[in-house]
Amino acid sequence: MAQNWNAKSWRDQEARHLPVYPDAEKLNAVESTLTSFPPLVFAGEARALKADLAQVAAGKGFLLQGGDCAESFAEFHPNNIRDTFRVLLQMAVVLTFASKQPVVKVGRMAGQFAKPRSSPVERQGDVELPSYLGDNINGIDFTPEQRIPDPDRMLRAYSQAAATLNLLRAFAGGGYANLRQVHGWTLDHIAKSPWATKFGEMADKIGEALDFMEACGVNPSSVPQLQGTNFYTSHEALLLPYEEAMTRQDSLTGDWYDTSAHMLWIGDRTRFEGSAHVEFLRGVGNPIGMKCGPSLTPDALLRMLDTLNPAREAGRITLISRYGHDKVEAGLPALVRAVKREGHPVVWSCDPMHGNVIKADNGYKTRPFDRILGEVKGFFAVHRAEGTHAGGIHIEMTGRDVTECTGGAVAITQEGLADRYHTHCDPRLNAAQSIELAFLLAEMLNLEHAEKKAEAA
Ligand code: PEP
Ligand code: CO
Repeated sequence: MAQNWNAKSWRDQEARHLPVYPDAEKLNAVESTLTSFPPLVFAGEARALKADLAQVAAGKGFLLQGGDCAESFAEFHPNNIRDTFRVLLQMAVVLTFASKQPVVKVGRMAGQFAKPRSSPVERQGDVELPSYLGDNINGIDFTPEQRIPDPDRMLRAYSQAAATLNLLRAFAGGGYANLRQVHGWTLDHIAKSPWATKFGEMADKIGEALDFMEACGVNPSSVPQLQGTNFYTSHEALLLPYEEAMTRQDSLTGDWYDTSAHMLWIGDRTRFEGSAHVEFLRGVGNPIGMKCGPSLTPDALLRMLDTLNPAREAGRITLISRYGHDKVEAGLPALVRAVKREGHPVVWSCDPMHGNVIKADNGYKTRPFDRILGEVKGFFAVHRAEGTHAGGIHIEMTGRDVTECTGGAVAITQEGLADRYHTHCDPRLNAAQSIELAFLLAEMLNLEHAEKKAEAA
């Protein structure tokens, strides 16, 4: 257990990107209500994810983490949850098939509401208002009333997270994720993509393998892994009053867990030394992610690892690099070397989204597919050169047919962005672009797998 820590000890540290609630009494009341609510996840599940991630840290698996940049109250709909879950599962099947290794599936779902913003204010014409901070804090409409932080939004976020998690659990364990369904998962809007044919071919091969196994007596009723899958949830642990209120002591081990999600991460803007966010997360037993951008020095990273994982427990820390397609190969090696030299067991994951945002000519914030892919390739090249495992991917995506990132085989143009641009924050890959990325990633994993086999021979 962490020394000199309690669920409130973050309150003595520097907290950036937290809202100032005008009604302190209401905030207190909401915090006590949340404290009395049931946990959303159990400590044992967080430990199971940590064990899965420990395998990835050891080079025996791959982490797939994805979902909305920001979930919203407006987009809360079972079809959205189903479609994102389905695309993540399709991606996982593609990756597992290529790498012959387990893929750990973690949604940016069921709690990903709060957003750190580059500016505290937003200006439209002559009007300046506080920025939108995520649906669990204030409203996206550009009116003074909507932009006031309202504690009641935390209760609505809790209930949306609970319902989302409930559906995800049902999908993961209730038969929907049965491997026999792979064909049935093919989405209408990936049918337009040239990669749909490739997905169909792969699904046929999986079907044949299952037929063969069944003839040998191995089927979903004898092997539960074929019937369902493990699916975990995660979000940025930004809104600390909410996270504190969701923190519970595990009755089995006496350790503290943030029960709002299985995995929590610290954003690039809140991972500085002396940060309240680091202080909070160092004391909870969940697997923790940390974003690593260009401003992070190797020494600062090592100090952070000592703070967050003094026992050097494998699976505890996932480092999520987010440099930008043109910076990753210059910046990442120094971090990878330092971590390797000090023997910290981490999962290295690649966020190819947050360093690759550009403004289109028509004003839309977008991310060109080529740059996203470029950063992933750079990430793999660095790990190959350093002899470390390229362990995961962290993406902003949706199962819907949106037009938010340009490019890909579906060739979304800058002009096309206006068609279906729905995100509440950053631009997401759509279903077809996500599947395409999975196939391109699979090629890289395949190469890694072939090299390892050759080395072992
Ligand atoms: C995010 O993941 O939505 C995010 C804000 O990323 P970062 O902290 O890396 O900027
Ligand atoms: Co984002």
